[in-house]
Formats: sequence, C-alpha cells, structure tokens
Amino acid sequence: MLVVYPGSFDPITLGHIDIIKRISNKFDQVIILVANNENKKTVFSLDERLNLIKQSLKESGVRTKKNTEKSNIRIEKHSGLLVDFVKQEDCDFIIRGLRRASDFDIEYDMARLNKHISGVETLLVSADPKFTHIASSYVKEIAKYGGDISGLVPEIVAQSIKQKF
Ligand code: PNS
Repeated sequence: MLVVYPGSFDPITLGHIDIIKRISNKFDQVIILVANNENKKTVFSLDERLNLIKQSLKESGVRTKKNTEKSNIRIEKHSGLLVDFVKQEDCDFIIRGLRRASDFDIEYDMARLNKHISGVETLLVSADPKFTHIASSYVKEIAKYGGDISGLVPEIVAQSIKQKF
C-alpha cells in the first residue's frame, strides 16, 4: 500500500519523524508531502522545508529514496489540493497524526471533506505520548524568543531556526 503523509512541516519536528518511522514500517511506500499553502505564512520556504525533512531523516537514521534504492520513503512537494496529488500518485490513504483531542475536530473535518470531494480515505495515527506536546508553531515561538528547542526538533532544524531569527 502507498500512503501519503502531508503537512506544512514548518519545520519538521521529532513528533513528525516518529510518525514517519512508524508508518514506513507498516506500509509498502510512504510519500512525505510538503504542502505549499498560499494562505499560510511560513518561516521556511517550500524548498527549505523539503531539505530540512531530508536532512532530519538522515540525522535520525531514516533512509529516503534518494539515498538508497531500498528505502520506501519519498519526499515530494505540492501546491493545490491534496486529493489531486493523492489521485495523481494513486495513493491508498492519507495519513495524519493526532496529538490530542483538540486535533481531532480539525482532522475529522479535513478527512470528511477530502472523502466528500474525492472519495479518498484518511487514517489518523495517534502520536506517541513522548511527542504530544510538540507543535511546529510552539517550536518557532520558543526559538524566536531565544528558548531552548533541543529535544523538540532534529539538531539540523534547531540550527536552521537559529539562523532565521
Ligand atoms: O501541517 P498542517 O499545516 O496541519 O497541514 C495541513 C495540510 C497541508 C495537510 C492541509 O492544509 C492541506 O491538505 N492542504 C492542501 C490544500 C487542500 O487540499 N485543502 C483542503 C483540505 S480539506
């Protein structure tokens, strides 16, 4: 089965990496999809986010398609509707992580809307309790005011955020 794990990844966190590791052990192929959402202002550009994912996975010992043919993980970028990408690549499911109950309403609506407009199904994967407090938005806020973000994001991301602020 081929699944797509979409997100803004602005930036990727250790929580995202945990989900990627877990789903890549369960499904034949995983596409990590960096979404270009024109309504959302991001700190990192689309290509920066994609490169940070690549480098973070390498740092975490997770192989991606470009590094070795044996890997079942690909990283792609996409502008426009997620379901268009899903249909174009013939993905079986969209995967989204759930950290806590408050995530559920948003994710449920998105899953229902995507299903309504395209028939594509979404699977919600619960975050490991070690990572449920981590969100890209908080990471950026802590970094902006000089706080310590080690243990929340890969080292390469921590360094890149420092350069941004
Ligand atoms: O990491 P995020 O910001 O929570 O990811 C949200 C994302 C990128 C998955 C969502 O905004 C999305 O799917 N955007 C692509 C445009 C789209 O298909 N919108 C309709 C969603 S119902």
